[in-house]
Amino acid sequence: MKICHTASELRSTLRNWRLEGKTIALVPTMGNLHRGHIRLVEKAGDLADIVVSTIFVNPMQFGRNEDLDKYPRTPEADIEKLTAAGCHLLFAPTVREMYPAGLDLHTVVSVPGVSERHCGASRPGHFDGVATVVSKLFNLVQPDHAVFGLKDYQQFQVIRKMNADLCFGIELTGVDTERDENGLALSSRNGYLSTEQKQQVFTIIRTLRDTAERIKAGERDYPALEQQARSVIESQGLRPDYFSICHAETLAPAHTEDKHLVILAAAYAGTTRLIDNIQLRL
Ligand code: PAJ
Repeated sequence: MKICHTASELRSTLRNWRLEGKTIALVPTMGNLHRGHIRLVEKAGDLADIVVSTIFVNPMQFGRNEDLDKYPRTPEADIEKLTAAGCHLLFAPTVREMYPAGLDLHTVVSVPGVSERHCGASRPGHFDGVATVVSKLFNLVQPDHAVFGLKDYQQFQVIRKMNADLCFGIELTGVDTERDENGLALSSRNGYLSTEQKQQVFTIIRTLRDTAERIKAGERDYPALEQQARSVIESQGLRPDYFSICHAETLAPAHTEDKHLVILAAAYAGTTRLIDNIQLRL
């Protein structure tokens, strides 16, 4: 696997592959790779001749009081995992390479509507940071395909709208959430959890699944279901941030006649914030 740290190295390497007529699939990450990330790399390998992964802990998407400094960084292990998964090129730039003039004067890509609720409301500016860095990576790599996880469901919808609105013309693929044997969605932030918290956080997926079952069985009072779910999550010692039954594309509150829904949840275990979701078709 070739490793590039600068945009110019990246561009010249990609130019050669493109001249050979190869197709390219991009998998952006922030590193500390787990099985969920590796699934995306494998999927990218099914879609294109060349797989490009990126590792960049993007400061623009972290709020002032968030975990930017303590975000886990494991470059050696990540390189091993990417190599084993068949990745051809890793782009791992420095903050200076991506934001040479700093963050404050940098152009910001903002995706209205779908960015505003849920994680967007709890983490102001977060999706601007995501959309900005992903648009930079799209421009640098100019991939045919890009692969993202549906664990970050709202992020996927933000990137879909950005890809359409800004005419990137990239084929986007969403990959189902990879979970541990108890159903917990794999996340780099799971490493922050204590043993006790690890038991508590299963309530998030359990409550998502229970709520989905109740909707499938015919319950339609969505605000009441949301309120009950928040109470269950709270009773297990977590602090719910949101639990929202939504239209699967707009992420607006679901109407009873909507057929494709997503239930989005976020909760804190201590200071660790975890998200998960479940889609359902009626
Ligand atoms: P990160 O959290 O490292 O995730 C990188 C990619 O892996 C995202 O597309 C995410 O949805 C996917 N992913 C994470 N956990 C997963 C799981 N359990 N199953 C399947 N896919 C999973 O998301 C980001 O980084 C950043 O916001 C980024 C898009 C790289 C922009 O900085």
